[in-house]
Amino acid sequence: MFLLLSRTVSLSVVHRVTCSCPSTPSKAILVSSVLIKLARKICVSHSSASGQNTGTMPERRPFVRLPTDVYPVNYGLCLKPDLIDFTFEGKLEALVEVTQSTNQIVMNCADIDIITASFAPEGGDEINATGFNYQNEDEKVTLSFPTALQKGSGMLKIDFVGELNDKMKGFYRSKYTTPAGEVRYAAVTQFEATDARRAFPCWDEPAIKATFDITLIVPKDRVALSNMNVIDKKPYPEDENLVEVKFAPTPIMSTYLVAFVIGEYHHVESQSSDGVTVRVYTPVGKAEQGKFALEVATKTLPFYKDYFSVPYPLPKIDLIAIADFAAGAMENWGLVTYRETALLIDPKNSCSSSKQWVALVVGHELAHQWFGNLVTMEWWTHLWLNEGFASWIEYLCVDHCFPEYDIWTQFVSADYTRALDLDALDSSHPIEVDVGHPSEVDEIFDAISYSKGASVIRMLHNYIGDEDFRKGMNAYLLKFQHKNASTEDLWSCLEQASGKPIAAVMGSWTKQMGFPIIAVDEEQVSDDRVLKISQKKFCASGLHDGEDCPSWMVPISICTSNDPTCTKLKLLLEKPETSVTVRGVGPDQWIKVNPGTVGFYRIQYSSSMLKNVLPGIRDLSLQPVDRLGLQNDLFSLLHKQADMQEEKNRIERVLGAIPAPELIQKVLCFRRCSGSSWDGRGCGSPGCWSSHHRF
Ligand code: BES
Ligand code: ZN
Repeated sequence: MFLLLSRTVSLSVVHRVTCSCPSTPSKAILVSSVLIKLARKICVSHSSASGQNTGTMPERRPFVRLPTDVYPVNYGLCLKPDLIDFTFEGKLEALVEVTQSTNQIVMNCADIDIITASFAPEGGDEINATGFNYQNEDEKVTLSFPTALQKGSGMLKIDFVGELNDKMKGFYRSKYTTPAGEVRYAAVTQFEATDARRAFPCWDEPAIKATFDITLIVPKDRVALSNMNVIDKKPYPEDENLVEVKFAPTPIMSTYLVAFVIGEYHHVESQSSDGVTVRVYTPVGKAEQGKFALEVATKTLPFYKDYFSVPYPLPKIDLIAIADFAAGAMENWGLVTYRETALLIDPKNSCSSSKQWVALVVGHELAHQWFGNLVTMEWWTHLWLNEGFASWIEYLCVDHCFPEYDIWTQFVSADYTRALDLDALDSSHPIEVDVGHPSEVDEIFDAISYSKGASVIRMLHNYIGDEDFRKGMNAYLLKFQHKNASTEDLWSCLEQASGKPIAAVMGSWTKQMGFPIIAVDEEQVSDDRVLKISQKKFCASGLHDGEDCPSWMVPISICTSNDPTCTKLKLLLEKPETSVTVRGVGPDQWIKVNPGTVGFYRIQYSSSMLKNVLPGIRDLSLQPVDRLGLQNDLFSLLHKQADMQEEKNRIERVLGAIPAPELIQKVLCFRRCSGSSWDGRGCGSPGCWSSHHRF
């Protein structure tokens, strides 16, 4: 069992204070909190989760989710940050439902000191908690009551204090310099995956949704933002320098999507065609640099509304650049936070790759407003779907809003080829992995969940077709809106809409690591072409052979030189090998598999097929993504197969003959970046797009 750092505070040593919002702890409470912190340091007991002393060596305890006997319906939350002392005072008034009589309430809580806690059943007398037992390892607190809380509604009140930390998680401080050179701090939040519990005691699991009424008490010259619009702003009675800002109630939502920001910002504002107020907040004096993101966001919101056939459910959305920010961006509902380089564009000094990056990040986070925020994953196991889906649809959105970017070519040269390269290594892992303890979440946030996730969803979209895909998405969002869902729920909606075996197909791509190499050979039989197609696991360390070779359900499309952009035949390869006849293909025509480079696999053509397809490369009738895909497959095969050298030379000669220097540049840059240390930060050469990338 773990050595638990636990303590029980006698309520007789702390005082309750009243204030207006609904009531806020005063400095007196802060003093007692310092004493409590000292007490916490001294009072270390060896106890198990059940409170028993063990005295044995620590061992890994299985993770247990929160009990369901008490759950929140509404959080009335008032926070008063101190931007000088880096502390905050908080008051929670949570409307809760007791489903089973109990004299304990277990919640998440980390680095927070509870001052007082009480429970008042509806229409009954308030009962003070007699102890707070912190299970620090589990980031939980158990509030104990002298009598049992009966089934029904009640109000749980907790006064607490915490630190505005410098760890870029929870409620933290972010340093900035004013135009006059003065160093100041903003207070900001980053809650995903499990850091809301550092800002207020809560049920910090994605499936435990509730509404939030948030109030912030802030210096009157600071901007205060939260998920919803401001509904009231009034002077704070106890301090004339402060104001009390009250926000509209949120829809029912998960704790990891709650956010607040208090600081000095300028903003630009617009209205999207579907009536949503969009603002982009920038550092003071840099509002101009928010204009591009504002244009992207106002175009993006109506795109998603139309694509999902579900309107954006909040009246406003703010996008804000935060000076100190750990992730690239975070999709908090109605208040999306970004690191500055992912949001700001200096019109005089930014290159087009920076604009593309901002467009993609904005497209990604706004997609989450539906996929993730409105419908939320049931548990962190399904996070890959949240991120993989947003990482795919961001490209669909940018392609729609800025067709001149030719952004899908970037997808293939960045996400797709990168995912194939990484997933071919023995050190790869399945996209879908069971997450127990939320601390495992960080481990699975890698290029496999993002880039392979996005690539298999792109393949799925192509397999289903846009119309049925949208139908299924709409059914999924309507069925699970304001609720939680799992990966299987999405597959079943898409299965219903398309009549195709989506769960079985997708399971083969998400539950096992790696991907196949598809070998293709052809034979001319009068006016038809007969293709022999087989699959084997592709490994960077050599082909996987033998009995236990995994296999995939592989959607395959085929095109011919008649129209290289149009699929002539589709099939689903469900076994190790098959034959298929492509009718009406004369001996002078060539055949290419995987037009658009959408299937997540590599292709090994027979020598003669490869030779035949060369004119399609030379005369540019094959799209750039197809030429890139062919070349990339050949490069990867070269690692193990020396006899492919001849094919590689041929392709390189042909690519060298293409009057498209930017494509060659892209291919060379890709090789440089990915061939070095696999850190994904790009080769550093000017214009290397992947230097903006996420990993
Ligand atoms: N939800 C994530 C950010 C996140 C994930 C924060 C997990 C904490 C834990 C967000 O939607 C995201 O994916 N951000 C990306 C940028 C995006 C454009 C790919 C990031 O931060 O790298
Ligand atoms: Zn995301």
